[in-house]
Amino acid sequence: MNSIPLTVIRPARNISGSLRLPGDKSISHRYAMLAAIAEGDTRLENFSTGADCASTLACVKALDVEVERSENSIVVHGRGPKLQAPTAPLDCGNSGSTMRMLSGILAGQGFSSELTGDESLSRRPMARIIAPLEIMGAKITARSGGRPPLQVTGGKLTGIRYNMPVASAQVKSCLLFAGLFAAGETAVVEPIRTRDHSELALRAFGAELKQLGNEVRIAGGQQLRAIEAMVPGDISSGAFFLCAAGLFPGSQLVIEDLLMNPTRARLLDVLILMGIGISVTQIREQHGELRGTVKVEGRDLKGITIAGADTAALIDEIPVLAAIAPYTTGGVEIRDARELRVKESDRIAAIAANLRAMGAQVEERDDGLKIPGNQKLRGAEIDSLGDHRIAMAFAVAALRAEGETRIRGAEAAVVSYPGFFNALERVAQR
Ligand code: S3P
Repeated sequence: MNSIPLTVIRPARNISGSLRLPGDKSISHRYAMLAAIAEGDTRLENFSTGADCASTLACVKALDVEVERSENSIVVHGRGPKLQAPTAPLDCGNSGSTMRMLSGILAGQGFSSELTGDESLSRRPMARIIAPLEIMGAKITARSGGRPPLQVTGGKLTGIRYNMPVASAQVKSCLLFAGLFAAGETAVVEPIRTRDHSELALRAFGAELKQLGNEVRIAGGQQLRAIEAMVPGDISSGAFFLCAAGLFPGSQLVIEDLLMNPTRARLLDVLILMGIGISVTQIREQHGELRGTVKVEGRDLKGITIAGADTAALIDEIPVLAAIAPYTTGGVEIRDARELRVKESDRIAAIAANLRAMGAQVEERDDGLKIPGNQKLRGAEIDSLGDHRIAMAFAVAALRAEGETRIRGAEAAVVSYPGFFNALERVAQR
């Protein structure tokens, strides 16, 4: 049982100490799914403790894949490419990654399955995977507007060349996974390069892929082999602590074994540009994924503009960057971020409403936010809207506010990091 997370955040003097974080959520999903369709037993240490990855494991088990779980490691007994039809709908919980990526695998199976999710997931757009999977030969039905639940009827797939209209690593991954089951080659072209964990994971499990600029190709019919891996700490969870430390000149925080994949680590460059002291040591690599020990020192915070490819690279870190924006000298502007409106909540609206509740001035735009700097925030009642990253981002903003902040729906943090509030209490010095 997890302890009930703290929902009251008191101001802090600085952030100091050292931490190790549960395994990266994006990598944990991919390793679990590929392990299920690989030959042999895959052992994964430091597997994500989040509810999202537990949803992936539950779905994989419902497809008759045996999974053993101890405290923070799992063993997946791979079945090879042919899974077993589930006897009930596959519940993806709050996890868009589970629904979108697993659909790629299910599209290549000889049965039909239903994928459901919670209220938030049931509002999220799935047309972005339905359209290309149907061109490949699967049949998928959804609620109007391409919303879940999805009924995925697998079939004989044929490779396609697909120009993705939205930059989405989940869509790319879905199509690469479907490509494993397709006749011929599947090519996915991205408008902007997104996180490459699926490419690295597929190679780790023994598949061959070709990368040419923004295009990645996979040939169908390749057999995957089990791996052993230690999942690096989740950098998107790490972002909350790095930003919290950045709020206070004098903070000194170390995060060990944090994911440093270049397609995910743009945050470190941005924090350096904002004036925070960052050093990375003990850089290592396993299965193509870099990890390292990050040391962060708080200094005065400068403002920044995040746009274009940076927005895509920082999409999960924008809530916390926006939450600390009022404390910067120059303010923060976020552009080209329309995708934030279709995450676990409408994150642009959620950030604007909660910053205003804390007394900040904010300009909300269709595809972004402009948040002036040099503002003082006061403790307030925050509504997480059931969104883990909103709950955690405002816990960080609360550390430098005047007075206490109460976070409604703070338990949403379990989606990616059940121990978040305890870890924050440990490093927050008062
Ligand atoms: C993810 C991709 C991103 C991100 C999500 C995880 C992934 O979503 O926001 O938290 O693991 O591939 P999109 O693919 O919708 O951009």
